[in-house]
Amino acid sequence: MSRKDLWENIYADKSPTGVSWYQKEPATSLSLIRNLPLERDVNIIDVGGGASTLVDYLLEDGFKNITVLDLSSNALALARKRLGEKADLINWKTEDITSYVPGHDYSLWHDRAVFHFLTEKGDREKYKKVLESSIRNGGFVIIAAFSMDGPRRCSGFDIVQYDAEKLQNELGGSFKLVKELPEKHITPAGKEQLFGYYVFTKSA
Ligand SMILES: C[S@@+](CC[C@H](N)C(=O)[O-])C[C@H]1O[C@@H](n2cnc3c(N)ncnc32)[C@H](O)[C@@H]1O
Repeated sequence: MSRKDLWENIYADKSPTGVSWYQKEPATSLSLIRNLPLERDVNIIDVGGGASTLVDYLLEDGFKNITVLDLSSNALALARKRLGEKADLINWKTEDITSYVPGHDYSLWHDRAVFHFLTEKGDREKYKKVLESSIRNGGFVIIAAFSMDGPRRCSGFDIVQYDAEKLQNELGGSFKLVKELPEKHITPAGKEQLFGYYVFTKSA
């Protein structure tokens, strides 16, 4: 089964509030984003945003140009349904990030628990190519991944654990780490998962 079909099935079978990564309020992402010098009209992308509520909060915060991209159309349909009429304010993209061709550049790229699923070097190279071509110079990249002492698998998929140094080495010299925050995520089933959140800027 393809990567896309596997994710489509997960979102077809489970409630969006029952998946292990569910957050009622994505507090760590929001605290990081709210501390960045971003005008309200800049382009923002939530990569592999799925049915995350981040987009709801970004709209409330006044951001006007938000893209939510995910491999799974089922995931995006859940987010659209939750948002109701406000869904029309968002650019929805059902795409694989490793082959995404953006129509314009972004000032903020947010990825919670997506890059860490790329266990193949070739896929990570493709992701980085898209990232490099998508972010404007001086723009910000937030990547959240399971930390070195966090889970090794999620939803039946192997993942790659990261710390700041490993992620910096992976992204390369065009991106400079400016902040990191740990997060103890508690899943809806009550399990603890250790995440690291990393904020990078793209050098001019
Ligand atoms: C663990 S979930 C995290 C969802 C969301 N970021 C959050 O924090 O609630 C991973 C998401 O990445 C999506 N995904 C996995 N691989 C992807 C890819 N190659 N391109 C785009 N989305 C992908 C899945 O469909 C899923 O919605």
